[in-house]
Amino acid sequence: MNDCFMNTYHRLPVVLTEGRGAQLTDQAGKTYLDFTSGIAVNCLGHNHPALVKAVSSQAAKLIHTSNYFLSDTSFVFADRLVAACKALGMQRVFMSNSGAEANEGAIKIARKYSQTRYGNGRHRIVTLKGSFHGRTLTTLSATGQDRFHPDSFAPYTEGFIFVERNDLVAMEKALDGTVAAVLMEPIQGESGIWPLDTSYVQAVARLCRERDVLLMFDEVQSGVGRTGTFLASELFQVEADVITLAKGLAGGVPVGAVLAGSRTAEVLGVGDHGSTFGGNPLAAAAGLAVLDTVDNPEMLAEIRRKGDLVMETVRSWQHPQVGEIRGRGLMIGIDIASDAWPVLEAALQKSLLLLSAGQKTLRLLPPYIISDAEIKEGLGILKSVLDNLPPQ
Ligand SMILES: Cc1ncc(COP(=O)(O)O)c(C=O)c1O
Repeated sequence: MNDCFMNTYHRLPVVLTEGRGAQLTDQAGKTYLDFTSGIAVNCLGHNHPALVKAVSSQAAKLIHTSNYFLSDTSFVFADRLVAACKALGMQRVFMSNSGAEANEGAIKIARKYSQTRYGNGRHRIVTLKGSFHGRTLTTLSATGQDRFHPDSFAPYTEGFIFVERNDLVAMEKALDGTVAAVLMEPIQGESGIWPLDTSYVQAVARLCRERDVLLMFDEVQSGVGRTGTFLASELFQVEADVITLAKGLAGGVPVGAVLAGSRTAEVLGVGDHGSTFGGNPLAAAAGLAVLDTVDNPEMLAEIRRKGDLVMETVRSWQHPQVGEIRGRGLMIGIDIASDAWPVLEAALQKSLLLLSAGQKTLRLLPPYIISDAEIKEGLGILKSVLDNLPPQ
């Protein structure tokens, strides 16, 4: 069944056919509890009535217009999204189709901002070790992990500097007059769910202001309510210059967004950037349904409460396999003593879908609509898998 695909993914042996809420069904009719949300995408779960209705009624009206024209749905979505990101000072948005593409847009904004003001030679971008920013050549180059820089894809885009997360001295040293921007995830997702310290981010924000360096948050995984605030970076109480979003933004319909604040809103002009599909009416209708459902205090409080329930339950086991538990809201990393991949396989056998992040960290990204009973059931499965692992 897999032969027609290029062999790029380490897939688990299951073929999914249907979903409802936090449950998925495979070809054989077996159901699974979904603690993955398609890697932080299906934030409203599967088959959410508001999302299905929005997508199907938009599909019956207008699926796509090129960006030579405005569509009413795309305009309303963009307006609502900018309003949802006001806490970080966002004023304008460019719509793309994916997280990597959103980060490409952010990098272009940073380069043009700096080039226009200071001329050539100040184009470098500081990112953090352990970061993940995407799979295009430039976003791979921005990613602060050696394993994403094999020789097979060289040469990479030049101009990225990597510093340790939460190391202010290293950051201060890196901002040496050749740097246009700092790009960082508020919580590093792919490398193991590593939140940044608030005091560190606030100090970096001050340094960036002093040195006219842009502060850009990659919220592709952490944004759109995942951590219990609409943006994870709201917690830092700083103003950002650029924020990127994707994944959960349209609940499974591909869309990405680059948001810009007061210093950056006017940087890109006509002809500087573009995307054929970016933010088309179908994606915008889906995005509006997500915003309507997620961007309200009750839903965000529920995400925080459910996240606490997960973390408190796992802590209460005092399990010899479980080490540090990190994260916020429903973006949770659990360090375990064993390799994560066999745990994913064993959990799948027992009808629970899990993710890993790094070699020995389980990553839990359940949909926001998951019930308490489903959380307890899924964690019960996880505990039984951990109970059966050989002692380390
Ligand atoms: C923080 C972060 N940035 C960017 C990306 C790339 O997003 P996409 O796969 O939509 O290109 C990801 C994907 O995992 C991510 O987690």
